[in-house]
Amino acid sequence: MNIGEVARSSFVAEFGSEPEGCWCAPGRVNLIGEHVDYAGGLCLPIALPQVTAVALRRRADHRLRVRSAGFEAADLDLRDRRVDGWAAYVAGVIWALEPPGFTGADVVVASEVPVGAGLSSSAALETAVAVAIAELSGLPLDDDGRERLAVACVRAENDYAGAPTGGLDQRIALHGRAGHALLLDFADHSSEHIPFDAGAQGLTVLVVDTGTGHRLADGQYGHRRSEVEEATQLLGVGTLREATSAGAIGDPTLRRRARHVIGEIARVREAAEFLRAGRIRDLGPLLDASHRSLRDDFEVSCLELDTAVDAAVAAGGLGARMVGGGFGGSAIVLCEDSRVDRVRQAVAAAAARRDLPAPAFLCATASGGARRC
Ligand code: GLA
Repeated sequence: MNIGEVARSSFVAEFGSEPEGCWCAPGRVNLIGEHVDYAGGLCLPIALPQVTAVALRRRADHRLRVRSAGFEAADLDLRDRRVDGWAAYVAGVIWALEPPGFTGADVVVASEVPVGAGLSSSAALETAVAVAIAELSGLPLDDDGRERLAVACVRAENDYAGAPTGGLDQRIALHGRAGHALLLDFADHSSEHIPFDAGAQGLTVLVVDTGTGHRLADGQYGHRRSEVEEATQLLGVGTLREATSAGAIGDPTLRRRARHVIGEIARVREAAEFLRAGRIRDLGPLLDASHRSLRDDFEVSCLELDTAVDAAVAAGGLGARMVGGGFGGSAIVLCEDSRVDRVRQAVAAAAARRDLPAPAFLCATASGGARRC
């Protein structure tokens, strides 16, 4: 059974009727461009083959009932505009979209995207719900329509789920394309699909889930975001995208934060050039530099991520770095297919030596965005 069928059959078991349909949306890894989306920067993510599926049936009243194996059931009245916990990712999208004629729903969620692994399970859920509602409400699902859904999903996450995230995750989940990375420009909201077929060049993007929980609503992410805003003001620019140097900032911490953002945006530009030229191997040193900057200047890495990254590179990875918000979660390693086993073993052994949780691995092939499934 694929994950869409799992959601559908759970829906029938839970609610005793067929859903109107099943929709799914992918998790993501960002190849490069971390902690720059909320600074008007550039990001270069791919959508994962792993998806979150949502089976949904509209209701004539205002109730929302949400179920997912392993999570507490949620029942609420959508008119209250109040919700705690994970159901906020469903209710928040409905509130942010205000779809015409859509009053309530029964929803079952089934997911292959590991939760808390920094692979955007929450954006996968939001955007799966968003395409379900859009299709049932007759909202367009072309590029512009998807962009409007992305904006609503970001609002749901910021205003209702309480995570002050920047929009990278929702955009790749909605706009991802198989065999392509997506260059996202957060200054003018333009984007470019760039061919990215690592497998065709004998390369693997290996994802290492360190098994260390990562959460975006617990304050550290928001703290970094406010430091970036402070640095922006000190430099007297609209966003750090406009800055070329952090040198004028007196406070050493804020200077390092800004240096990360400015350097990372430059690395994304270079990475995009390499991809346009089909030179995927050349991403390696950029990934390493990105990790160092996130570790030393932005200080969002942790022992588990550093251990995985160091072990992967020592075992012959072409480059590796943490991905997502940080403070736990996952890392990616770019490596030759022939080295994948060796890298996995080295990363697992390094974690065991330090008594860290056993990491889990998956391979990231650039996949499609939110859709009916
Ligand atoms: C999380 C957020 C994104 C982005 C990344 C860091 O995934 O949801 O908006 O800021 O962290 O690049």
